[in-house]
Amino acid sequence: MKPDPHPKGATYDEADLLRRARTVRARAYAPYSHFRVGAVIVTDDGQVFEGVNVENASYRMTTCAEQSAIAGMISAGVRRPIVAVAVVGDGDDPCTPCGACRQTIYEFGPQATVYSSGDAGRPLVTLITDLLPHGFGPKRLSQGQS
Ligand code: THU
Repeated sequence: MKPDPHPKGATYDEADLLRRARTVRARAYAPYSHFRVGAVIVTDDGQVFEGVNVENASYRMTTCAEQSAIAGMISAGVRRPIVAVAVVGDGDDPCTPCGACRQTIYEFGPQATVYSSGDAGRPLVTLITDLLPHGFGPKRLSQGQS
């Protein structure tokens, strides 16, 4: 099923989000992979946060663009559900979020629509639940022992 591009409660323009993600991508710090990624997230009340990938000489310390954007949202004191995520990576093909980013998006946007793009062709439009089926999230954890 094709996801609803405008989930209830959100006001955003898909093309605008992708433009913003492509623009912010220029600020990526990616001297090792040379693969720049820009991400934009939208909350259910229309707040927008941007992020880029931030690499490190100790490679595994790298932060992905989606995680930067979400860290920005939390750092700003915002905990609204994320309804949309736009990701634009270098190269022509859609840059779909890595496994770790799927989990991070699911934490704050279990119903989010994800727009993945590169520099050519149409964006790939999915739900986070398509990218992370049967995901483990906060709801499941709340069933633990008290
Ligand atoms: N990267 C992201 O920023 N987001 C993703 O979802 C995929 C990978 C970054 C991490 C690293 O800086 C570069 O892309 C190459 O893996």
